[in-house]
Amino acid sequence: MMTSNQPKHEHTNVCPFAVESSVDPHVFCPPQEGDSRSPCPALNALANHGYLPRNGQQITNKMLYNSICEVYQISGPVAYLLSYGGLLKLGKGGDYISLHDLARKEKLEHRASLFHADASIDSDYAPVVVDKVLTEETLSYSKDGVLFTMEDAAIARAKRQASYPPDQQISANQAFIARGEITILLNVFNNPNPELLAEHPEIHSSNGENGPLPGVPLDLIRTWVVEGRLPEGWKPYHTFTLWDLLKGTWNLKSGMDRISAELPGYGSGKSHGTRGLLEGGNTAGGISGVEEVVEDKKRK
Ligand code: HEM
Repeated sequence: MMTSNQPKHEHTNVCPFAVESSVDPHVFCPPQEGDSRSPCPALNALANHGYLPRNGQQITNKMLYNSICEVYQISGPVAYLLSYGGLLKLGKGGDYISLHDLARKEKLEHRASLFHADASIDSDYAPVVVDKVLTEETLSYSKDGVLFTMEDAAIARAKRQASYPPDQQISANQAFIARGEITILLNVFNNPNPELLAEHPEIHSSNGENGPLPGVPLDLIRTWVVEGRLPEGWKPYHTFTLWDLLKGTWNLKSGMDRISAELPGYGSGKSHGTRGLLEGGNTAGGISGVEEVVEDKKRK
């Protein structure tokens, strides 16, 4: 897969897994100096495990397609949309890319991410380093402090988007992409886990104890997003289909629309009685600006 003119991903001294990596080609190894990484946790993890070139360079749409099908069990049509469609939108349809190309500002990359800070005004690229404070703010919307559910994600996304003035909102297309990212996360990592449900009787799963969890464990999200690592022992439990994507993004949008009605500057301003939803979140830190706006509304 690698060619001689590619910068090497050295496993000398710094990589503690040098020995194992010769046995298991997919052992985790964090990026080394000079490796290219993206704002996408899914693809960074694939490179850190050697499903994509570990140096994050000379990647084709076919490599993206094959690796997301293999590792995350994404169905053909969705994988095609993400990989071939993604690179087309980046203006790199048939080209080799490096993972860092995906950080090109406002191409595929967008503002109002849940785990990454926005690109600065004077930069053409968004940061690829995870913003740990923002990530914890996002996860703090978990109502039970154990799982991140669709409802938690709807609150997190609605609040994140509402923290921008009306004239700086992300486009409808970017908002769809952002909902898609979270929908895939929520559907790929919510593996059935009867032990976890037994430990947390307060969590009610309408899927039964052997069905998929009603959300994704927070620690699993931290491992994947912050460390760029596939969770230990995790394997996909189903194929993520186009229908899953459409249903999930629709549900997320419905949740966001209900919530946004409570957030001035984002929604229509009409209340649909979701005050309970808003207040129910475990919003330890709050996402910049929104809390003040909500407080301001209460004072009026
Ligand atoms: C299984 C497949 C995938 C999953 C689960 C996934 C998931 C995610 C998630 C959760 C984010 C949000 C990061 C954040 O909010 O900070 C994200 C961001 C991103 N993903 Fe992926 N992704 C997948 C495949 C892809 C592919 C194939 C591409 C490119 C062709 C891609 C490009 C991006 C880019 C550019 C971003 C940055 C968006 C931004 O926050 O500005 N992803 N992805």
